[in-house]
Amino acid sequence: MSSTGLFISFEGIDGAGKSTHIEALAQAFAQQGRQVTLTREPGGTPLAEKLREMVLHDAMDSLTESLLVFAARRDHLQQVIEPALARGDVVLCDRFTDATFAYQGGGRGFDLTVLRQLEAWVQTSAHGLRQPDVTVWFELDPAIAAQRLAAARVPDRFESQPVAFFQAVSDGYAARAEADAARFVRLNAAQAREAVWAQLHASLVQRGWLSA
Ligand code: TYD
Repeated sequence: MSSTGLFISFEGIDGAGKSTHIEALAQAFAQQGRQVTLTREPGGTPLAEKLREMVLHDAMDSLTESLLVFAARRDHLQQVIEPALARGDVVLCDRFTDATFAYQGGGRGFDLTVLRQLEAWVQTSAHGLRQPDVTVWFELDPAIAAQRLAAARVPDRFESQPVAFFQAVSDGYAARAEADAARFVRLNAAQAREAVWAQLHASLVQRGWLSA
């Protein structure tokens, strides 16, 4: 078993198509003998999953929304992510803090200074400030994402937002990616699924996280 944990988060607007690639990546790491912890935010623990239900379905203001996603994140870090990394697992997390900066900060227009403060409180441990080693951003034009979503399912509080909201979310992701470019792998999610996968796989091989 490897003693070095690896923390990868996956980001993008709703409809960008993360899910199938996260599953495929879990298999690719498992085939290379790694233990994989597959998880998501908000969620990943019984408490955090309850908070997720509220965030996705109950009306609330943006400060409440931000506090709930960070409360969920705190529990998730302590119960799941930190122990998994300490065991040497590969942690694949469907969304993490960049989503808060994108959705609450960009989409809702909430104060980024407050989000940075919450980020520091929630993610600081004995190891320092915990951030993903790699963040995979599925970049997609919000108009295309909206078309994909319309065909897909009953929308939640975020999925029912207009295209302008998702443009602001995208801008929020772009700001985070620019501020921490070395952490981000940017994928063109408008391509066919196989091409997106090839780009994702190649980028992890190039960084030495997966063998070819
Ligand atoms: P998502 O990850 O897209 O799951 P599903 O595929 O089951 O819909 O849904 C989570 C939603 O929560 C998504 O619309 C983004 C939102 N979200 C925030 O607003 N802030 C956050 O910090 C996180 C992690 C997610």
